[in-house]
Amino acid sequence: MAFFRTANFSDPLPSIEGNGVMLRTPGPGDYAEWAALRDASRAFLTPWEPTWPADDLTRAAFRRRLRRYAEDQRNDQSYAFFIFRSSDQVLLGGLTLANVRRGVAQAGSLGYWIGGPYARRGHMTAAVRALLPFAFGALRLHRVEAACIPSNAASIRLLENSGFAREGYAREYLCINGIWQDHLLYARLQDDARA
Ligand SMILES: CC(C)(COP(=O)(O)OP(=O)(O)OC[C@H]1O[C@@H](n2cnc3c(N)ncnc32)[C@H](O)[C@@H]1OP(=O)(O)O)[C@@H](O)C(=O)NCCC(=O)NCCS
Repeated sequence: MAFFRTANFSDPLPSIEGNGVMLRTPGPGDYAEWAALRDASRAFLTPWEPTWPADDLTRAAFRRRLRRYAEDQRNDQSYAFFIFRSSDQVLLGGLTLANVRRGVAQAGSLGYWIGGPYARRGHMTAAVRALLPFAFGALRLHRVEAACIPSNAASIRLLENSGFAREGYAREYLCINGIWQDHLLYARLQDDARA
């Protein structure tokens, strides 16, 4: 039955255009810009992310990261994108559709980060809007989920502006910044009206 078929994306994905942003699969040539942006954004990002391994910003760790992205994509488990500004191709951040579940779920979980210098300019709103047609169309997902810490005002606003509905509250849901933290659970369904 077509509904339960798994999408096949072992080949490199085409880039995705959005409003002022372009999403594409990360590559080896992105290392220097990625490491510089993550380093410059460390204080901005670390309260909201899993603890960074000590070697996270090294070239070797980035190579491992790319291998994992490629393998996860081949296995239809996860789809990672970097976000670039369309006007000059500057790296702005990243967006991952992870933990893809097929069968009767047809669901995936959205994660995202923007570089500190580029925050609050509408870039992630544009990136999420660009990704959703890919998730519901090409990947044929039925449901895209996201979770955030209740104090993450930016993430809550982003999700609610992007048509995600708040569905619940999960205690100690993820280990963020070294602490098991409660999360608000959000989801957007394929049939939800476009935000
Ligand atoms: C969450 C995050 C990705 C948002 O990215 P962004 O590019 O700044 O988002 P946008 O500019 O598209 O803004 C989205 C909405 O959030 C609001 N917003 C952004 N930063 C905010 C802040 N610090 N406080 C309150 N609202 C904020 C914006 O005003 C906008 O709402 P509006 O259109 O109604 O005004 C970014 O803040 C980030 O990377 N944070 C650190 C990592 C993180 O939280 N990851 C997600 C974990 S769940």
